[in-house]
Amino acid sequence: ADGLVESVPDEFQDQVARVLLSEERIGARVKELGAQIGEAYRDQPLVILGVLTGSYMFVADLTRAIPLSKLEVYFIKASSYEGTGSSGQVKLSGLDHVDLTGRHVLIVEDIVDTGLTLQKLKQAVRELDCKSVAACTLLHKNTSRRLEGTPPVEFVAFEIADEFVVGYGLDYNQSLRHLPFVGIFRTKSAS
Ligand code: XMP
Ligand code: MG
Repeated sequence: ADGLVESVPDEFQDQVARVLLSEERIGARVKELGAQIGEAYRDQPLVILGVLTGSYMFVADLTRAIPLSKLEVYFIKASSYEGTGSSGQVKLSGLDHVDLTGRHVLIVEDIVDTGLTLQKLKQAVRELDCKSVAACTLLHKNTSRRLEGTPPVEFVAFEIADEFVVGYGLDYNQSLRHLPFVGIFRTKSAS
């Protein structure tokens, strides 16, 4: 904001090309979104279903910003990615340990790219007879790879361009999740 371009810390220069969303910007937006979610569910009990591993940091910050007195947090695991390209398959695990019958469920994702993961997840959660299912994502990629018929995302923190991003939970081959900001991954090219 304010024309300030935040710089990538020295130790990450070789892996991160530039900062896309600063820690401050993420923090402000997450607070806004938490309030919005509180409004949407008012005093109804809510179940947050975080999708590991990418959403761990977002869930930690978002839940602290949701002003509801009755909120439960669970994590499930979804894996679909190898390196920077989608494998086209989604493996879900952990859903069998959560009782969602009659509950309002909010699925919290790190990023929606093709939409495949969210589609599989919403389908699987719906089959568990919950009262409602909605989705929240930190990042929503503006991509031509979005699959037809994938479900809407009710709560989006940031719309981003079609670039591979890392940090604030998002990884490249399991690393860089711990960056407090979201950065554009520096693709190593043979030039
Ligand atoms: P889909 O295509 O199913 O995306 O909507 C699902 C998963 O893909 C991963 N993904 C990324 N991970 N940087 C990442 O670190 C990215 O730019 C990116 N794009 C997609 C992510 O795990 C997401 O849940
Ligand atoms: Mg990933």
